[in-house]
Parts: sequence; C-alpha cells; structure tokens
Amino acid sequence: MVRILALAFVFSSFLAGAQVFGAPAREIVARQIGDLQCNVDRLSIVAGLATTQGTLKKLSQDLAHDPTSAASVQSAADSISGAQGAIGVIAKALLTGQTAPAEARNQVLGNLTAAHDTLAAINSTDSTASATLQKALSELNDSAEAGNGVVNNCK
Ligand SMILES: *[C@@H]1O[C@H](CO)[C@@H](O)[C@H](O)[C@H]1NC(C)=O
Ligand SMILES: *[C@@H]1O[C@H](CO)[C@@H](O)[C@H](O)[C@H]1NC(C)=O
Ligand SMILES: *[C@@H]1O[C@H](CO)[C@@H](O)[C@H](O)[C@H]1NC(C)=O
Repeated sequence: MVRILALAFVFSSFLAGAQVFGAPAREIVARQIGDLQCNVDRLSIVAGLATTQGTLKKLSQDLAHDPTSAASVQSAADSISGAQGAIGVIAKALLTGQTAPAEARNQVLGNLTAAHDTLAAINSTDSTASATLQKALSELNDSAEAGNGVVNNCK
C-alpha cells in the first residue's frame, strides 16, 4: 500500500512536470527544485506514518498492563489510519489529474493533531513504555514536518 502510494506521488509529479514547457528557464529550474523537495516530503510523510504505526504496535504491547493508556494508543493509531486514508484520497485525485480536495488535506492535519494530542496525554510510569512513546512522538513530529513541507513545497 505504502509503495503504491509513493509511486502514485512520484508518477503524478511526473505528469505535473510535463506541463512546465514554455515557462521561462529560471522559473522551470526553480519549479523543478520545488518539485524535488515536494516529492521528498510526500515520500517522507507516507514512510513516516508507516513507521509511527509500527512503533505504536510496540507501544500497545509495552502498555498491555495499562488498559487506559493502551486505549489511548489505539485511538492514536486510528487517527493515523485516518490520516493515511486521507493521503490515499489525495494521491488518487492527483493520479487521475484532479485537484486534491482541500477537505482531505484538512483531514490529514486534523488526524495528525489528534494523534499527537492523544499520545502526549498518556501518563505512563513504565520506563520501557515511556521510551517507546517518545520514539512514536518523534516519528509523528517528523511526519507532521513532512506534511508541512508538502503544503509549502507542492504547488
Ligand atoms: C480523519 O480522517 C478521516 C478520513 O480518513 C476523516 O473522516 C476524519 O474526519 C479525520 N479526522 C479529523 C479530526 O480530521
Ligand atoms: C494524566 O494525568 C493527568 C494529571 O493527573 C490527568 O489530568 C490526565 O487526565 C491523565 N491523562 C490520561 C490520558 O489518563
Ligand atoms: C516538531 O518538534 C519541534 C521541536 O519540539 C517543534 O518546534 C515543531 O513545531 C514540531 N513540529 C510539528 C509539525 O509539530
């Protein structure tokens, strides 16, 4: 799934790149550098969310003795799945030459914020779980940074 999405992103930017012929040279170069960063950001958010989901799986095992915290982890994992679903909607729109719906972008950001807030509220005294939680938050932060990059660099 992740690989298909990544291919979709690269492919769609390939199509977008074909439309720059005719623009002044400097503009083309600037746009191509922007496209490159845009693709890096797109791949980073897809890969980063997959990595975060893996870490959350480990975290729910670490917190198996703490049902309240484990429920929060499940809720955060659901939010990330929601973000991944919205990214899929965006990728599909781009692949079929349609403008990505703004609603889907808001769903990505809304779900990432929800996942972050849910994880940040977990109170665990278990040192193994705390370390895994910090790792998940850091991976989520990297994914959100890539998401900001998509917004800023993918025009
Ligand atoms: C999370 O994404 C789903 C679609 O995958 C969407 O229905 C839901 O509204 C989103 N949640 C937030 C808080 O944006
Ligand atoms: C964590 O602890 C704080 C302070 O005791 C409490 O207000 C909060 O609800 C707790 N969070 C969770 C998810 O249980
Ligand atoms: C990621 O973490 C850094 C440092 O804590 C913070 O400044 C930044 O706002 C975070 N990024 C996102 C998108 O949350």
